[in-house]
Amino acid sequence: IKNGAQGPGTAGPLLQRVGGPDVVRKVVELFYKKLYGDPRLVPFLHDQDVMHLRAKQSAFISWLFGPPNVPYNGRSVRIAHLRIIKQRNFSPDDYDLGMKYFEDSMSELGAPESIIGEVMRRLKPFKDAFFTPSSKDPEEEA
Ligand code: HEM
Repeated sequence: IKNGAQGPGTAGPLLQRVGGPDVVRKVVELFYKKLYGDPRLVPFLHDQDVMHLRAKQSAFISWLFGPPNVPYNGRSVRIAHLRIIKQRNFSPDDYDLGMKYFEDSMSELGAPESIIGEVMRRLKPFKDAFFTPSSKDPEEEA
């Protein structure tokens, strides 16, 4: 798509438009604070070191705030969460709660609504990826 006339919400990497790497860092920090602060989500997280989790997710966050039209090439999110889905019954409602915390974190740090909408749209397809059983599931369960 030719992007000569750059309308609001369509120009360049989200990273710049959201306010740069410092803002993203703060969003992610606040997001984890909210996740770990919720008794409903703690059972999925209590045995995970937050720094370890953040490190693991950093490629995903870079992609999320990166240039448009780049497919996510990281590890399957289904496989990454298969244990908590199968062994701890991580549910679509739990997922939605996490997404709400991410949205709230951006909002509380002053990200513009249009950008929040764009980020949340980018995240949308992952819900199906999480909860749709795959032929690769069984071999990864061990
Ligand atoms: C990794 C929990 C939501 C993306 C992980 C891991 C846990 C976890 C425990 C570590 C898995 C492992 O190393 O074995 C949760 C919980 C969530 C949540 C409790 C509650 C809402 C999400 C969402 C996304 C996401 C909404 C993205 C759409 C990732 C990614 C990794 C990860 C990219 C790293 C995968 C890798 O190893 O490369 N998560 N997750 N998570 N999660 Fe989540």
